[in-house]
Amino acid sequence: MAEPRTRIDPTDPDIYLHGIPHAEFAEMRRDEPVRWIPQVRGSAGFDDDGYWAVTRHADVMAVSRDSDTYSSRENTAIARFQPDMTRDRIEMQQAVLLNMDPPQHTKQRAVVSRGFTPRAVNNLRAALRSRAERIVASLSEAETGDFVTDVACELPLQAIAELLGVPQEDRRNVFEWSNSMIGYDDPEFRGADPMESAMGLLGYAMQMADERRTCPRDDIVTTLVNAEIDGEHLSVDEFGFFVLMLAVAGNETTRNAISHGMLGLLDNPGQWELYRATRPRTAVDEFVRWGSPINVFQRTALHDTVLSGVPIRKGQRVAMFYGSANYDEDVFTDPHTFDITRSPNPHLGFGGSGAHFCLGANLARLEIDLIFNAVADHMPDITLAGPAQRLRSGWINGIKHLPVKYH
Ligand code: HEM
Repeated sequence: MAEPRTRIDPTDPDIYLHGIPHAEFAEMRRDEPVRWIPQVRGSAGFDDDGYWAVTRHADVMAVSRDSDTYSSRENTAIARFQPDMTRDRIEMQQAVLLNMDPPQHTKQRAVVSRGFTPRAVNNLRAALRSRAERIVASLSEAETGDFVTDVACELPLQAIAELLGVPQEDRRNVFEWSNSMIGYDDPEFRGADPMESAMGLLGYAMQMADERRTCPRDDIVTTLVNAEIDGEHLSVDEFGFFVLMLAVAGNETTRNAISHGMLGLLDNPGQWELYRATRPRTAVDEFVRWGSPINVFQRTALHDTVLSGVPIRKGQRVAMFYGSANYDEDVFTDPHTFDITRSPNPHLGFGGSGAHFCLGANLARLEIDLIFNAVADHMPDITLAGPAQRLRSGWINGIKHLPVKYH
Protein backbone atom coordinates (compact mmCIF):
# COMPACT_ATOMS: atom_id res chain seq x y z
CA MET A 1 0.00 0.00 0.00
CA ALA A 2 1.35 3.46 -0.94
CA GLU A 3 2.14 5.74 2.00
CA PRO A 4 -0.62 8.35 2.18
CA ARG A 5 0.52 11.87 1.27
CA THR A 6 -1.60 13.58 3.86
CA ARG A 7 -3.59 12.37 6.79
CA ILE A 8 -6.55 14.62 7.08
CA ASP A 9 -9.41 14.22 9.51
CA PRO A 10 -12.31 14.45 7.04
CA THR A 11 -14.59 15.86 9.76
CA ASP A 12 -12.30 18.91 10.10
CA PRO A 13 -14.44 21.94 9.05
CA ASP A 14 -11.45 23.90 7.76
CA ILE A 15 -10.78 21.53 4.88
CA TYR A 16 -14.25 22.21 3.39
CA LEU A 17 -13.86 25.96 2.92
CA HIS A 18 -13.29 25.45 -0.82
CA GLY A 19 -15.70 22.53 -1.18
CA ILE A 20 -15.35 18.76 -0.75
CA PRO A 21 -11.64 17.78 -0.45
CA HIS A 22 -11.77 15.55 -3.53
CA ALA A 23 -8.04 14.84 -3.88
CA GLU A 24 -7.76 13.56 -0.31
CA PHE A 25 -10.90 11.43 -0.58
CA ALA A 26 -9.69 9.94 -3.90
CA GLU A 27 -6.45 8.96 -2.20
CA MET A 28 -8.28 7.39 0.73
CA ARG A 29 -10.58 5.41 -1.59
CA ARG A 30 -7.53 4.15 -3.47
CA ASP A 31 -5.11 3.44 -0.63
CA GLU A 32 -7.02 2.86 2.56
CA PRO A 33 -10.80 2.93 2.05
CA VAL A 34 -11.50 2.04 5.67
CA ARG A 35 -9.03 4.23 7.53
CA TRP A 36 -8.62 4.85 11.24
CA ILE A 37 -8.67 8.58 11.99
CA PRO A 38 -7.27 9.39 15.40
CA GLN A 39 -8.98 12.23 17.26
CA VAL A 40 -7.80 13.94 20.40
CA ARG A 41 -9.63 12.40 23.33
CA GLY A 42 -12.63 14.50 24.28
CA SER A 43 -12.30 16.99 21.40
CA ALA A 44 -15.31 15.62 19.59
CA GLY A 45 -17.40 15.10 22.69
CA PHE A 46 -16.97 11.30 22.57
CA ASP A 47 -15.22 8.98 24.98
CA ASP A 48 -13.08 7.15 22.48
CA ASP A 49 -10.12 8.46 20.55
CA GLY A 50 -10.87 8.07 16.90
CA TYR A 51 -13.17 6.62 14.25
CA TRP A 52 -13.12 4.60 11.02
CA ALA A 53 -13.54 6.72 7.90
CA VAL A 54 -15.38 4.78 5.16
CA THR A 55 -14.98 6.41 1.75
CA ARG A 56 -15.92 3.87 -0.96
CA HIS A 57 -19.45 3.57 -2.33
CA ALA A 58 -19.63 -0.21 -1.78
CA ASP A 59 -18.53 0.06 1.86
CA VAL A 60 -20.92 2.92 2.67
CA MET A 61 -23.73 0.76 1.23
CA ALA A 62 -22.61 -2.23 3.30
CA VAL A 63 -22.62 -0.24 6.55
CA SER A 64 -25.98 1.47 5.79
CA ARG A 65 -27.67 -1.84 5.07
CA ASP A 66 -26.54 -3.61 8.22
CA SER A 67 -28.26 -2.05 11.22
CA ASP A 68 -27.79 -5.29 13.19
CA THR A 69 -24.06 -4.58 13.22
CA TYR A 70 -23.92 -0.79 12.91
CA SER A 71 -26.04 1.09 15.42
CA SER A 72 -27.49 4.58 14.98
CA ARG A 73 -28.26 4.93 18.66
CA GLU A 74 -25.00 6.52 19.78
CA ASN A 75 -25.67 9.67 17.75
CA THR A 76 -25.41 9.59 13.97
CA ALA A 77 -23.98 13.12 13.74
CA ILE A 78 -20.22 13.42 13.89
CA ALA A 79 -18.18 16.59 14.19
CA ARG A 80 -14.54 17.42 14.66
CA PHE A 81 -15.21 19.90 17.42
CA GLN A 82 -18.39 19.48 19.32
CA PRO A 83 -19.33 20.86 22.72
CA ASP A 84 -19.52 18.29 25.49
CA MET A 85 -22.88 16.61 25.33
CA THR A 86 -25.19 17.41 28.20
CA ARG A 87 -27.59 14.73 29.38
CA ASP A 88 -30.54 16.76 27.99
CA ARG A 89 -28.93 16.87 24.61
CA ILE A 90 -28.13 13.15 24.53
CA GLU A 91 -31.69 12.30 25.55
CA MET A 92 -33.06 14.59 22.89
CA GLN A 93 -30.89 13.01 20.22
CA GLN A 94 -31.92 9.51 21.18
CA ALA A 95 -35.60 10.47 20.96
CA VAL A 96 -35.45 11.05 17.20
CA LEU A 97 -35.94 8.46 14.46
CA LEU A 98 -32.53 9.14 12.95
CA ASN A 99 -30.85 7.87 16.12
CA MET A 100 -33.04 4.82 16.77
CA ASP A 101 -32.29 1.13 16.23
CA PRO A 102 -34.72 -1.70 15.53
CA PRO A 103 -37.23 -2.62 16.87
CA GLN A 104 -38.02 0.94 18.04
CA HIS A 105 -36.93 2.39 14.69
CA THR A 106 -38.95 -0.11 12.65
CA LYS A 107 -42.10 0.67 14.59
CA GLN A 108 -41.82 4.43 14.48
CA ARG A 109 -40.73 4.50 10.84
CA ALA A 110 -43.82 2.46 9.88
CA VAL A 111 -46.04 5.08 11.52
CA VAL A 112 -44.36 8.23 10.19
CA SER A 113 -44.02 6.80 6.66
CA ARG A 114 -47.77 7.37 6.34
CA GLY A 115 -47.02 11.08 6.07
CA PHE A 116 -44.56 10.54 3.21
CA THR A 117 -46.35 8.19 0.82
CA PRO A 118 -46.12 9.17 -2.88
CA ARG A 119 -49.75 10.27 -2.61
CA ALA A 120 -49.16 12.44 0.46
CA VAL A 121 -46.17 14.09 -1.25
CA ASN A 122 -48.05 14.55 -4.51
CA ASN A 123 -50.89 16.24 -2.63
CA LEU A 124 -48.46 19.05 -1.80
CA ARG A 125 -47.50 19.63 -5.42
CA ALA A 126 -49.97 22.42 -6.29
CA ALA A 127 -49.34 24.38 -3.07
CA LEU A 128 -45.57 24.06 -3.40
CA ARG A 129 -45.62 24.96 -7.06
CA SER A 130 -47.37 28.24 -6.30
CA ARG A 131 -44.94 28.88 -3.41
CA ALA A 132 -41.98 28.30 -5.74
CA GLU A 133 -43.51 30.61 -8.36
CA ARG A 134 -44.11 33.28 -5.72
CA ILE A 135 -40.54 33.10 -4.38
CA VAL A 136 -39.14 33.61 -7.87
CA ALA A 137 -41.76 36.23 -8.88
CA SER A 138 -40.88 38.35 -5.82
CA LEU A 139 -37.47 38.88 -7.46
CA SER A 140 -38.78 40.08 -10.82
CA GLU A 141 -37.55 43.62 -10.17
CA ALA A 142 -34.27 42.62 -8.50
CA GLU A 143 -31.13 43.07 -10.53
CA THR A 144 -28.77 41.15 -8.25
CA GLY A 145 -29.00 39.26 -4.97
CA ASP A 146 -27.99 36.22 -2.91
CA PHE A 147 -29.56 33.09 -4.39
CA VAL A 148 -29.28 31.23 -1.06
CA THR A 149 -31.21 33.71 1.08
CA ASP A 150 -33.52 34.94 -1.73
CA VAL A 151 -34.49 31.62 -3.32
CA ALA A 152 -33.08 28.43 -1.75
CA CYS A 153 -34.05 29.07 1.89
CA GLU A 154 -37.78 29.38 1.88
CA LEU A 155 -39.30 26.46 -0.01
CA PRO A 156 -37.87 23.70 2.25
CA LEU A 157 -39.47 25.34 5.30
CA GLN A 158 -42.75 25.94 3.49
CA ALA A 159 -42.78 22.28 2.44
CA ILE A 160 -42.55 21.05 6.04
CA ALA A 161 -45.16 23.58 7.12
CA GLU A 162 -47.51 22.48 4.31
CA LEU A 163 -46.95 18.83 5.13
CA LEU A 164 -47.90 19.38 8.76
CA GLY A 165 -50.61 21.96 8.05
CA VAL A 166 -48.96 24.71 10.15
CA PRO A 167 -51.26 27.76 9.94
CA GLN A 168 -49.89 30.82 8.12
CA GLU A 169 -49.83 32.98 11.23
CA ASP A 170 -47.48 30.55 13.01
CA ARG A 171 -45.03 30.03 10.16
CA ARG A 172 -42.69 32.94 10.90
CA ASN A 173 -42.01 31.58 14.41
CA VAL A 174 -41.64 28.02 13.19
CA PHE A 175 -39.17 29.16 10.50
CA GLU A 176 -37.12 31.17 12.97
CA TRP A 177 -36.87 28.29 15.43
CA SER A 178 -35.95 25.90 12.62
CA ASN A 179 -33.21 28.12 11.24
CA SER A 180 -31.63 28.96 14.56
CA MET A 181 -31.66 25.32 15.72
CA ILE A 182 -28.90 24.48 13.27
CA GLY A 183 -25.74 24.99 15.31
CA TYR A 184 -22.61 25.40 13.22
CA ASP A 185 -18.88 25.70 13.59
CA ASP A 186 -19.28 28.73 11.37
CA PRO A 187 -18.88 32.06 13.25
CA GLU A 188 -21.64 33.72 11.20
CA PHE A 189 -24.17 31.43 12.80
CA ARG A 190 -23.10 31.82 16.41
CA GLY A 191 -25.37 33.83 18.65
CA ALA A 192 -28.67 32.03 18.21
CA ASP A 193 -29.36 29.62 21.05
CA PRO A 194 -30.11 26.29 19.33
CA MET A 195 -31.38 24.66 22.53
CA GLU A 196 -33.87 27.44 23.24
CA SER A 197 -35.17 27.31 19.68
CA ALA A 198 -35.47 23.53 19.87
CA MET A 199 -37.56 23.85 23.03
CA GLY A 200 -39.78 26.47 21.35
CA LEU A 201 -40.45 24.22 18.37
CA LEU A 202 -40.89 21.13 20.53
CA GLY A 203 -43.52 22.89 22.67
CA TYR A 204 -45.35 24.14 19.59
CA ALA A 205 -45.41 20.71 17.95
CA MET A 206 -46.60 18.99 21.13
CA GLN A 207 -49.43 21.48 21.43
CA MET A 208 -50.38 20.74 17.82
CA ALA A 209 -50.45 16.99 18.56
CA ASP A 210 -52.53 17.56 21.67
CA GLU A 211 -55.11 19.55 19.74
CA ARG A 212 -55.44 16.89 17.02
CA ARG A 213 -55.91 14.25 19.69
CA THR A 214 -58.94 16.07 21.04
CA CYS A 215 -60.19 17.57 17.74
CA PRO A 216 -59.18 15.24 14.90
CA ARG A 217 -59.02 16.78 11.41
CA ASP A 218 -58.42 15.38 7.97
CA ASP A 219 -54.66 15.97 8.04
CA ILE A 220 -51.34 14.23 8.52
CA VAL A 221 -50.85 15.27 12.14
CA THR A 222 -54.16 13.61 12.99
CA THR A 223 -53.09 10.48 11.09
CA LEU A 224 -49.80 10.28 12.97
CA VAL A 225 -51.13 10.90 16.48
CA ASN A 226 -54.31 8.84 16.32
CA ALA A 227 -54.40 5.07 16.30
CA GLU A 228 -55.20 3.91 12.80
CA ILE A 229 -53.26 0.96 11.43
CA ASP A 230 -52.70 -1.89 13.92
CA GLY A 231 -53.42 0.58 16.70
CA GLU A 232 -49.97 2.19 16.23
CA HIS A 233 -49.53 5.94 16.56
CA LEU A 234 -47.11 8.51 17.92
CA SER A 235 -47.42 9.84 21.44
CA VAL A 236 -47.56 13.61 21.85
CA ASP A 237 -43.87 13.60 22.86
CA GLU A 238 -42.86 11.37 19.98
CA PHE A 239 -44.64 13.66 17.56
CA GLY A 240 -42.85 16.69 19.03
CA PHE A 241 -39.44 15.09 18.52
CA PHE A 242 -40.40 13.98 15.03
CA VAL A 243 -41.20 17.58 14.05
CA LEU A 244 -37.94 18.71 15.62
CA MET A 245 -36.08 16.27 13.43
CA LEU A 246 -37.94 17.30 10.27
CA ALA A 247 -36.98 20.91 10.92
CA VAL A 248 -33.32 19.91 10.87
CA ALA A 249 -33.36 17.01 8.37
CA GLY A 250 -35.56 18.65 5.76
CA ASN A 251 -34.44 22.25 5.97
CA GLU A 252 -30.89 23.05 5.12
CA THR A 253 -30.27 19.75 3.34
CA THR A 254 -32.77 20.73 0.64
CA ARG A 255 -31.61 24.34 0.74
CA ASN A 256 -28.08 23.20 -0.03
CA ALA A 257 -29.17 20.78 -2.75
CA ILE A 258 -30.86 23.78 -4.44
CA SER A 259 -27.85 26.06 -3.96
CA HIS A 260 -25.35 23.44 -5.19
CA GLY A 261 -27.60 22.68 -8.17
CA MET A 262 -27.69 26.36 -9.14
CA LEU A 263 -23.94 26.72 -8.70
CA GLY A 264 -23.35 23.59 -10.81
CA LEU A 265 -25.58 24.94 -13.57
CA LEU A 266 -24.06 28.42 -13.55
CA ASP A 267 -20.52 27.06 -13.48
CA ASN A 268 -21.41 24.92 -16.51
CA PRO A 269 -23.41 27.17 -18.83
CA GLY A 270 -23.94 24.36 -21.36
CA GLN A 271 -25.80 22.42 -18.66
CA TRP A 272 -27.98 25.42 -17.79
CA GLU A 273 -28.87 25.79 -21.46
CA LEU A 274 -29.69 22.08 -21.62
CA TYR A 275 -31.78 22.32 -18.46
CA ARG A 276 -33.82 25.25 -19.77
CA ALA A 277 -34.47 23.50 -23.07
CA THR A 278 -35.23 19.94 -21.89
CA ARG A 279 -35.84 19.97 -18.07
CA PRO A 280 -34.50 16.41 -17.70
CA ARG A 281 -35.96 14.44 -14.79
CA THR A 282 -32.46 13.18 -14.03
CA ALA A 283 -31.21 16.67 -13.06
CA VAL A 284 -32.42 16.62 -9.45
CA ASP A 285 -30.44 13.54 -8.50
CA GLU A 286 -27.32 14.96 -10.13
CA PHE A 287 -27.72 18.08 -7.96
CA VAL A 288 -27.87 15.87 -4.85
CA ARG A 289 -24.88 13.73 -5.92
CA TRP A 290 -22.81 16.76 -6.93
CA GLY A 291 -23.58 18.75 -3.78
CA SER A 292 -23.83 15.83 -1.29
CA PRO A 293 -25.54 18.19 1.20
CA ILE A 294 -24.92 15.77 4.08
CA ASN A 295 -21.27 14.90 3.98
CA VAL A 296 -21.21 12.22 6.67
CA PHE A 297 -23.23 10.21 9.16
CA GLN A 298 -21.82 7.73 11.62
CA ARG A 299 -22.70 4.41 13.20
CA THR A 300 -21.28 2.51 16.18
CA ALA A 301 -20.32 -1.18 15.93
CA LEU A 302 -22.55 -3.35 18.13
CA HIS A 303 -20.11 -6.28 17.99
CA ASP A 304 -16.69 -7.10 16.53
CA THR A 305 -16.88 -7.27 12.76
CA VAL A 306 -14.85 -6.97 9.56
CA LEU A 307 -15.42 -4.35 6.84
CA SER A 308 -13.55 -4.82 3.56
CA GLY A 309 -10.94 -6.90 5.37
CA VAL A 310 -10.47 -4.38 8.18
CA PRO A 311 -11.30 -5.60 11.69
CA ILE A 312 -13.64 -3.27 13.58
CA ARG A 313 -14.12 -3.66 17.30
CA LYS A 314 -17.34 -3.45 19.24
CA GLY A 315 -17.99 0.14 20.32
CA GLN A 316 -15.87 1.77 17.61
CA ARG A 317 -17.37 4.52 15.49
CA VAL A 318 -17.69 4.12 11.73
CA ALA A 319 -18.28 7.24 9.61
CA MET A 320 -19.77 7.02 6.12
CA PHE A 321 -18.57 9.83 3.86
CA TYR A 322 -21.29 10.35 1.27
CA GLY A 323 -19.27 13.26 -0.16
CA SER A 324 -16.61 10.70 -1.11
CA ALA A 325 -18.85 7.77 -2.11
CA ASN A 326 -20.73 10.02 -4.55
CA TYR A 327 -17.51 10.57 -6.49
CA ASP A 328 -16.32 6.95 -6.43
CA GLU A 329 -14.79 6.26 -9.84
CA ASP A 330 -15.68 2.53 -9.51
CA VAL A 331 -19.37 3.49 -9.70
CA PHE A 332 -19.64 6.81 -11.56
CA THR A 333 -18.26 7.47 -15.03
CA ASP A 334 -16.40 10.80 -14.98
CA PRO A 335 -17.54 11.59 -11.43
CA HIS A 336 -16.18 15.14 -11.64
CA THR A 337 -18.35 15.96 -14.64
CA PHE A 338 -21.61 17.68 -13.68
CA ASP A 339 -24.05 15.88 -15.97
CA ILE A 340 -27.75 16.57 -15.50
CA THR A 341 -28.62 13.65 -17.77
CA ARG A 342 -26.56 11.15 -15.73
CA SER A 343 -28.36 7.81 -15.68
CA PRO A 344 -28.17 5.56 -13.80
CA ASN A 345 -27.15 7.70 -10.84
CA PRO A 346 -26.94 5.45 -7.78
CA HIS A 347 -25.71 8.27 -5.51
CA LEU A 348 -25.84 8.00 -1.73
CA GLY A 349 -26.81 11.63 -1.06
CA PHE A 350 -29.99 10.42 0.66
CA GLY A 351 -28.07 7.70 2.51
CA GLY A 352 -27.46 4.09 1.59
CA SER A 353 -30.46 1.88 0.93
CA GLY A 354 -30.86 0.69 4.51
CA ALA A 355 -33.49 1.23 7.17
CA HIS A 356 -32.60 4.91 7.62
CA PHE A 357 -32.79 5.87 3.93
CA CYS A 358 -34.01 9.48 3.77
CA LEU A 359 -37.71 9.56 4.55
CA GLY A 360 -38.09 12.90 2.81
CA ALA A 361 -36.26 12.02 -0.43
CA ASN A 362 -39.35 12.29 -2.64
CA LEU A 363 -40.48 15.51 -0.99
CA ALA A 364 -36.99 16.97 -1.48
CA ARG A 365 -37.00 15.87 -5.13
CA LEU A 366 -40.36 17.57 -5.68
CA GLU A 367 -39.20 20.83 -4.09
CA ILE A 368 -35.97 20.93 -6.08
CA ASP A 369 -37.80 20.16 -9.32
CA LEU A 370 -40.37 22.92 -8.72
CA ILE A 371 -37.87 25.61 -7.81
CA PHE A 372 -35.63 24.95 -10.83
CA ASN A 373 -38.60 24.96 -13.17
CA ALA A 374 -39.68 28.33 -11.75
CA VAL A 375 -36.13 29.75 -12.06
CA ALA A 376 -35.81 28.48 -15.66
CA ASP A 377 -39.21 29.97 -16.57
CA HIS A 378 -38.71 33.38 -14.98
CA MET A 379 -34.96 33.98 -14.70
CA PRO A 380 -33.46 32.28 -17.75
CA ASP A 381 -30.57 34.76 -17.88
CA ILE A 382 -29.37 34.27 -14.31
CA THR A 383 -25.56 34.36 -13.98
CA LEU A 384 -22.99 34.25 -11.19
CA ALA A 385 -22.01 37.64 -9.77
CA GLY A 386 -19.21 36.50 -7.47
CA PRO A 387 -17.70 33.46 -5.79
CA ALA A 388 -19.86 31.15 -3.64
CA GLN A 389 -19.17 31.40 0.09
CA ARG A 390 -18.98 27.99 1.72
CA LEU A 391 -20.15 27.02 5.16
CA ARG A 392 -17.43 26.09 7.61
CA SER A 393 -18.59 22.57 8.44
CA GLY A 394 -17.34 19.04 7.98
CA TRP A 395 -20.84 17.62 8.34
CA ILE A 396 -22.94 19.73 5.99
CA ASN A 397 -21.61 20.63 2.55
CA GLY A 398 -23.16 24.05 2.63
CA ILE A 399 -23.21 27.23 0.60
CA LYS A 400 -23.86 30.28 2.76
CA HIS A 401 -24.07 32.87 0.01
CA LEU A 402 -24.27 32.67 -3.76
CA PRO A 403 -24.13 36.12 -5.39
CA VAL A 404 -26.06 36.19 -8.65
CA LYS A 405 -27.34 38.59 -11.28
CA TYR A 406 -30.98 37.62 -11.84
CA HIS A 407 -31.80 39.32 -15.14
C1 HEM B 1 -32.52 10.65 6.68
C2 HEM B 1 -30.21 13.34 3.36
C3 HEM B 1 -34.24 15.98 2.66
C4 HEM B 1 -36.29 13.77 6.43
C5 HEM B 1 -31.57 11.11 5.79
C6 HEM B 1 -30.28 10.49 5.56
C7 HEM B 1 -29.62 11.28 4.67
C8 HEM B 1 -30.51 12.35 4.30
C9 HEM B 1 -28.20 11.08 4.14
C10 HEM B 1 -29.79 9.15 6.14
C11 HEM B 1 -29.39 9.18 7.58
C12 HEM B 1 -28.74 7.89 8.05
O1 HEM B 1 -28.55 6.94 7.29
O2 HEM B 1 -28.39 7.84 9.23
C13 HEM B 1 -31.11 14.28 2.89
C14 HEM B 1 -30.84 15.21 1.81
C15 HEM B 1 -31.98 15.93 1.60
C16 HEM B 1 -32.95 15.48 2.57
C17 HEM B 1 -29.51 15.31 1.05
C18 HEM B 1 -32.24 17.02 0.60
C19 HEM B 1 -31.72 17.07 -0.60
C20 HEM B 1 -35.16 15.61 3.61
C21 HEM B 1 -36.49 16.16 3.76
C22 HEM B 1 -37.05 15.56 4.85
C23 HEM B 1 -36.09 14.59 5.36
C24 HEM B 1 -37.11 17.22 2.86
C25 HEM B 1 -38.40 15.74 5.48
C26 HEM B 1 -39.13 16.82 5.42
C27 HEM B 1 -35.43 12.74 6.81
C28 HEM B 1 -35.72 11.85 7.92
C29 HEM B 1 -34.63 10.96 8.00
C30 HEM B 1 -33.70 11.32 6.94
C31 HEM B 1 -36.95 11.89 8.79
C32 HEM B 1 -34.43 9.84 9.02
C33 HEM B 1 -34.94 8.53 8.50
C34 HEM B 1 -34.69 7.40 9.45
O3 HEM B 1 -33.82 7.49 10.33
O4 HEM B 1 -35.42 6.39 9.32
N1 HEM B 1 -31.69 12.23 4.98
N2 HEM B 1 -32.38 14.49 3.33
N3 HEM B 1 -34.95 14.65 4.59
N4 HEM B 1 -34.22 12.39 6.25
FE1 HEM B 1 -33.37 13.36 4.70
